[in-house]
Amino acid sequence: MLFREAYALGLPSQGTDVAVIWDHLYLFLLWLSVFFFILVVGGMLYFAVKYKKSSGAKPKYIVDNHALELFWTIVPTILLLVIFGWGWSVYKKMVHAPTNAMEIRVIGKQWLWNFQYDDGRVLTNEVYVPQNVPVKFVMSSEDVIHGFFIPNFRVKSDVVPGMFTTIWFEAKQAGEHQVFCTEYCGASHSLMLAKVKVLEADKWEAFKRGKPVQVTGAKPEASLTQLSLPEQGAKLVAAKGCNACHNATGDAGGIGPTYKGLFGHDVELADGSTVKADENYIRESIMTPTAKIVKGYNPVMPPFQGIVNETEMNAIIAYIKSLQ
Ligand code: CUA
Repeated sequence: MLFREAYALGLPSQGTDVAVIWDHLYLFLLWLSVFFFILVVGGMLYFAVKYKKSSGAKPKYIVDNHALELFWTIVPTILLLVIFGWGWSVYKKMVHAPTNAMEIRVIGKQWLWNFQYDDGRVLTNEVYVPQNVPVKFVMSSEDVIHGFFIPNFRVKSDVVPGMFTTIWFEAKQAGEHQVFCTEYCGASHSLMLAKVKVLEADKWEAFKRGKPVQVTGAKPEASLTQLSLPEQGAKLVAAKGCNACHNATGDAGGIGPTYKGLFGHDVELADGSTVKADENYIRESIMTPTAKIVKGYNPVMPPFQGIVNETEMNAIIAYIKSLQ
């Protein structure tokens, strides 16, 4: 144990399997650098002392040594390829969420974090997740660029206005894990903290059964939070007039395309290309509808910049997602 701590130099606790493989790679790089630092600097000092000549001495002409040159070319090349392959495999595990991951939406704003659950609950600066279940955070920002970092899980991503970014993790350790904002976002950046609270299966079941949690600092009206996220979305598209042109029935004859069967599918555009209808596509189609025109429809939709906030955006996307 003591050896591990000395070797790992006090890295945060390993809350996920990704943290374990991430640490292996990080510590390999670190100790490899230490090894070569000692080899190079030690060798330099040793030779400087050993071959010191008085001033005026004529240096000997040294011809090249092919064996040595091949050695110091091939060995570092192999090392770099190993590091690349290793890093690639850790990175893939880090960024590719399992398809069955539970989704929670995260909204960053100066200077707090809101967490939106599918059942409509919104929590501020704390998020409850089940232990040993893959969880995916779909994140956006209400104002400036923030950074979402859970050191214990070794996952981190910028949270950027106008787009969605994601992280995922499968928490192994029940209990609290600290979240930091890692992009300077204004006066109270250092206070933009949150806690990930990992619950064992029985506690998670109790949390799921729990009543809607009090909304603090969040936008949605109190009445809306009693509804599930897709239900909130259904109300919002009606309230914002979307249903004048779009429908949920799958009928393609409207002024705009139907919501039904859209999410996760390929959409054919007027310019002949296709695009996958994911969170970012739907956001763009709401905020700047003329960016991608769906084949067979006219560019008549007005932009909804400033009309749909991030909380509402997540609800609308959850609604469209539910209409498969
Ligand atoms: Cu948000 Cu720094």
